[in-house]
Amino acid sequence: MNKKTSKKNNPVVFISGSSKGIGLEIAKKLARKNFDIVLNGRTDSKHLKKAKEDILSKAKVNVLCLPFDISNISVHEVMVKKIIEKFGRIDCLINNAGISVDKRGDILDVTTESFDKLISSNLKSHFFLTQKIAEHMIKNDSKNFKSIINISSSNAQAASINRAEYCISKSALEMMGKLFAVRLAKEHINVYNILPGLIKTDMTKPVKKKYNKLLKKGFSPINRWGEPKDIAKAVSFIARGKMSFVTGESIHIDGGLLIPRY
Ligand SMILES: NC(=O)c1ccc[n+]([C@@H]2O[C@H](COP(=O)([O-])OP(=O)(O)OC[C@H]3O[C@@H](n4cnc5c(N)ncnc54)[C@H](OP(=O)(O)O)[C@@H]3O)[C@@H](O)[C@H]2O)c1
Repeated sequence: MNKKTSKKNNPVVFISGSSKGIGLEIAKKLARKNFDIVLNGRTDSKHLKKAKEDILSKAKVNVLCLPFDISNISVHEVMVKKIIEKFGRIDCLINNAGISVDKRGDILDVTTESFDKLISSNLKSHFFLTQKIAEHMIKNDSKNFKSIINISSSNAQAASINRAEYCISKSALEMMGKLFAVRLAKEHINVYNILPGLIKTDMTKPVKKKYNKLLKKGFSPINRWGEPKDIAKAVSFIARGKMSFVTGESIHIDGGLLIPRY
């Protein structure tokens, strides 16, 4: 246990891919709202260690680092067990980990390797981890609000044909959210999809120049880069049960990018 021990009834959140970027900002925000935090990245990296230190320096909560590659479904059971052993329950799951394509290119040239990699990391991993964690959430009789929040993308709905496999993975993730929403409503677990637009993180670093040019021409109504904290604020609102009569809904956090215009 950490020295600064938390209250027994703190909600417990597992955030996949929270060693940096959007996931880390969500973790920091929820820690400030007294959630106990389970951090994750593919490996036990310096990012993950620093993420834990940052959170503990600002909030009196418990933090567990759980490095594992979420696309390795065979380890899900043992990883979930570790969370239950430490905290006794999971109240909130944030399916955030994700990757972009290694190489953008023509949809006619997408390889089976790249297609399988994106589907495995951005969709299949989340589907089976959600199944596993939902089993525990159903048994969890705490009074805390229970939710599952998928970090999809505006590319679930907007076609970028130079990364088709990414768009397909995010679009299917959005449908996964609706499916679990219907199944889990009777278990008192709400499910949400967040569709971020252009957000300034390591993922978008390689395409910074391209989008700076598009922003100069007027990319979106609120014409700026989004920040990870734009996503974290919304996730914190949802995870604290402030939208408890909403489930299966997709929330666009993109500066109005997807509003049809002419
Ligand atoms: N940035 C954007 O503009 C944008 C827009 C729409 C949607 N999104 C979505 O938002 C999510 C977060 O993206 P980001 O921009 O914050 O990316 P990022 O800065 O590259 O961070 C990605 C995080 O996911 C982790 N990760 C990736 N694959 C993983 C795996 N298989 N198992 C465990 N952890 C894994 C990474 O950890 P390690 O590096 O340690 O493995 C890292 O913590 C992604 O799902 C992305 O598709 C981003």
